[in-house]
Amino acid sequence: MNLKDLYINFFISKGHKQIPSSPVVPENDPSVLFNTAGMQPLIPYLMGQKHPYGTRLCDYQKCIRTNDLDNIGDTYHHTFFEMLGNWSLGDYFKKEAITWSFEFLTKELNIPVERLAVTIFAGSDLIKEDTESYEIWRSLGIPESRIAKTIDDNFWIAGEAGPCGPDTEMFYWRSNDEIPEKFDPEDERWVEIWNDVFMEFNKKFDGSVEELPNKNVDTGMGVERTTAILEGVNDNYASSIWRDVIKLIENISNLPYEGNEKSMRIIADHIRTSVIISADKAGIKPSNTDQGYILRRLIRRAIRHAKSLNIDVNSNWEEQIANLIMDKYEGYYEEIKENRNIVLEVLKTEKVKFNRTLEKGLREFEKITSRLVVGKLNKDDAFKLYDTYGFPIELTEELAKEKNIKVDIDGFKEKFKAHQELSRTSSQGKFKGGLAGNSEIETRYHTATHLLNAALKVVVSPDIHQKGSNITEERMRFDFNCDHKLSEEEKQKVEDLVNKWIKEELEVKVEEMNKEEAIASGAECMFVEKYPDRVTVYSIGDISKELCGGPHVKNTKELGTFKIKKEEASSAGVRRIKAILQ
Ligand code: ALA
Repeated sequence: MNLKDLYINFFISKGHKQIPSSPVVPENDPSVLFNTAGMQPLIPYLMGQKHPYGTRLCDYQKCIRTNDLDNIGDTYHHTFFEMLGNWSLGDYFKKEAITWSFEFLTKELNIPVERLAVTIFAGSDLIKEDTESYEIWRSLGIPESRIAKTIDDNFWIAGEAGPCGPDTEMFYWRSNDEIPEKFDPEDERWVEIWNDVFMEFNKKFDGSVEELPNKNVDTGMGVERTTAILEGVNDNYASSIWRDVIKLIENISNLPYEGNEKSMRIIADHIRTSVIISADKAGIKPSNTDQGYILRRLIRRAIRHAKSLNIDVNSNWEEQIANLIMDKYEGYYEEIKENRNIVLEVLKTEKVKFNRTLEKGLREFEKITSRLVVGKLNKDDAFKLYDTYGFPIELTEELAKEKNIKVDIDGFKEKFKAHQELSRTSSQGKFKGGLAGNSEIETRYHTATHLLNAALKVVVSPDIHQKGSNITEERMRFDFNCDHKLSEEEKQKVEDLVNKWIKEELEVKVEEMNKEEAIASGAECMFVEKYPDRVTVYSIGDISKELCGGPHVKNTKELGTFKIKKEEASSAGVRRIKAILQ
């Protein structure tokens, strides 16, 4: 049995309920892009809210940490990892938590006691030494010489403020060297494998600390690290979690792992994280902002490293790797089973997009850097690589670093900001005559916007009008006046109606006429005063007629399948629909 199953079964046998992993994007915390610890989705409950599953919980949580991608490529950093955890929400406290940790390590994982050591909280001005945990460890047979006390490393909090408390950390002797009698937590041959936090306090942003309504337990064990330790390998990528993925990359590239570790680890890690992000319920797609930008960077960086291993980047290499990863995880995450095709589509679309310019971009990079007199790439060149060749700035930086060249990042950021402002203004300008953007997919979305507008009038109310819209290559957003949240039934009906019109292969017609004439003929228009006297009017069959600058498709059959992803409030009396075409 693997570690995840052993862990969950063990805590279920101790009266815990297993809760499903939350999505990778925190649902109530816009201050972080991704969940970085198992406890994050549980913060409201640690603060005192009642959890629907009760007071004893356990899970494996998807966690993503991308603050330092430079670390990926070594033996033990990963952008995605799973964290095992068990929680007491005002139920058991130190005695049970420590006793069960000890039992799990020694009885379930069969770790010999002499390979274990622990740290406990030494005490500070505000909070006293954790003598209780010390006594519990002693009573379980941990000798005095294997218990170390620290202040900073034994007080746990996620970030600046929130639920927190003293903790006790468990360490494993990973080396074949003789084990020193006295435990030194600074000795790297001792590796931390588990952390039991006793959350009794809430730290506020002003620095003050108050007691929580309940005394809670929060624990965390990293699956990748502990698996590698149990299997006796010093490189996480040599453990059962990664071995076959690395093997597959060896086969695809026709190169051995030895000598190519860094690129192979980066490919394995980044494709795995991209699979997890794009399968997630949060519905993230590669883009130039927030989580979407992280996803884009991960995929593009994996492609760059695949290319450096001479993999034919136009082949289906990413699909093979993603499929193997999904085989391994779909039994644990329902969303992977459900979204396999979406994941493959996301990877492929981004690959095709990047591959179009990668080769040329790399050549351009070589040209620029071979001409450099001082070892610094200027902002204009960095921006050109971003804008023309789709190189995320971090990728340019990485390529430059390999040649000992610096990049004018500050200059790049200034240029980037100026460019964003410019494109914002120009898209606002264009909006007057219609909608921004005119790539093929955006054009399809424009037409879908008209269909959605018409369907809402039929299904929900004839008084509905467009209040705004925003289109990217990934999705459409449509705001409209409406005094209630759409019911599931209404959403379904709207979706069905749009799809029905798509199937009916309706012709999209464009005519030029006078504004008055257009309005009189019943054409819908968002801001009458913004249109010039001569306007273009787009009609779709006889179901929609709107003043619009276009562009639009010629026939609704070009749209594919319309799907509503989200319906939410936008502002008072205005609702927002996000939808995609598949
Ligand atoms: N929240 C604790 C950690 O992440 C258990 O280490």
